[in-house]
Amino acid sequence: MTSPHRLSLAGIGCGARTRTYTKLAMETPERYKINAAADPVRERTEAVRSYAPADEQVSVRLFENAEALLAEPKLADVAIIGTQDNYHYIPCQKALRLGYDILLEKPIAQTLREALQLRDLAEELNRRVLVCHVLRYTPFYNTIRDIITSGELGDIITFNANEGVGAWHFAHSFTRGHWGNSNTSTPMIVAKCCHDMDILYWLFGRKCESIASFGELTFFRKETLRSPRPERCVDWTTPVGEDPWDARKYATDAEARRWLRMVYDRADEATEEEIYEWLRTSPWGRDYLQCDNNQPDHQVGIMRFEGGMTGTFTMTAFEQGRHIEIYGTKGKLRAGVFYKNNGPGEITVQDHFGGPVRVIEVPEADGGYAGHGGGDWGLVNELYDDMVNVPTPADMKTSITQSAHSHVMAFAMEHARLTGQVINVADFERLVLEGTLQY
Ligand SMILES: NC(=O)c1ccc[n+]([C@@H]2O[C@H](COP(=O)([O-])OP(=O)(O)OC[C@H]3O[C@@H](n4cnc5c(N)ncnc54)[C@H](O)[C@@H]3O)[C@@H](O)[C@H]2O)c1
Repeated sequence: MTSPHRLSLAGIGCGARTRTYTKLAMETPERYKINAAADPVRERTEAVRSYAPADEQVSVRLFENAEALLAEPKLADVAIIGTQDNYHYIPCQKALRLGYDILLEKPIAQTLREALQLRDLAEELNRRVLVCHVLRYTPFYNTIRDIITSGELGDIITFNANEGVGAWHFAHSFTRGHWGNSNTSTPMIVAKCCHDMDILYWLFGRKCESIASFGELTFFRKETLRSPRPERCVDWTTPVGEDPWDARKYATDAEARRWLRMVYDRADEATEEEIYEWLRTSPWGRDYLQCDNNQPDHQVGIMRFEGGMTGTFTMTAFEQGRHIEIYGTKGKLRAGVFYKNNGPGEITVQDHFGGPVRVIEVPEADGGYAGHGGGDWGLVNELYDDMVNVPTPADMKTSITQSAHSHVMAFAMEHARLTGQVINVADFERLVLEGTLQY
């Protein structure tokens, strides 16, 4: 591909996600350029600057926060909004008005109403907004989508989809971490599973019409504690790791240290003593049964889509990885981590009459990147096309117009869980937009 134009980037909120994207972008400096970065933590903006080619680093402008960067006239083609969930709407809206196109981390905004308003503003201003639904860019889901569109399965009648968040990940992110409390982030089904809602909509190309849901917080809560114990794991007297969710493992266990890297800037060089000290005050040092979390650790949804297709979705803390079964008039597809680990393969297709099981190999993630199954790399790769090569926002592989439906589905599923009702998705969207329902 020829690259007549280097797409310039301004990182707003230079935490784990923005650093991942800017680092990947700068592996193809003939296509991308970093012009600016904003974050209250100086090391993070400096890290973003360090990804630029050495002779360009001096011209990367660093700002203390989003407000300072957005007080300037437009500094780059694309603003990456990588701040936390409760601070997407304001910087995104400002950046759109300043003329930026946007790479916007999910969730689009903290409330559905704001998400829909951003969608409408982008449409009104004719700006390009790519929401980071990274699964769309994975070889795994692209392979499944190709099989569906090839007609090999016939008409799709029903599916079961599962998102196994993972027991440590759930405690790290959705109990102790940024997304443990829905009041300061978004409901679990939005924060984690807007990815799943988006991929279902994208795989089948049909909108969801109605939803019911159940789910609750059963295990990661105070009631699970059998006897009192200190609120900080560093004060426990049990052997380290006896309890599988012991936060002291951040200092002692290689896998836990990988998670630490996402929340502690000095994770790589820190000694065990330093990490223990950090655990005394950090949210990640808390007993996972004595936090202020309220996210359900399991939730199921049942859905009806256009044309009568039905499906179930399960989110649980107590499984690792996604898997899906899709049933069509000609055949069935089974795919995901469970099938990869238990055979015969990561994706299989079989007809209904005992025909051979076809095992489909998933191509290696381009560039060998494992992040989100290759999705991080795929998204950065596609960003250039979506921002530079396609003629209009409507031609993007992923535009906010499409991505917003995942948020309508996810918030509708939360409304169904909280009310016990079956939710008509189109009505729900209308009621939220007009302000009758508060989501
Ligand atoms: N697409 C995905 O798969 C995926 C995965 C994880 C997280 N996310 C989403 O990405 C977003 C960022 O997550 P993260 O893990 O990188 O979080 P993070 O906490 O590492 O990064 C957020 C950054 O924003 C900075 N910040 C705070 N106030 C700011 C301000 N006023 N101006 C500028 N910067 C400010 C913080 O200092 C921090 O560095 C979240 O919305 C999260 O839900 C998406």
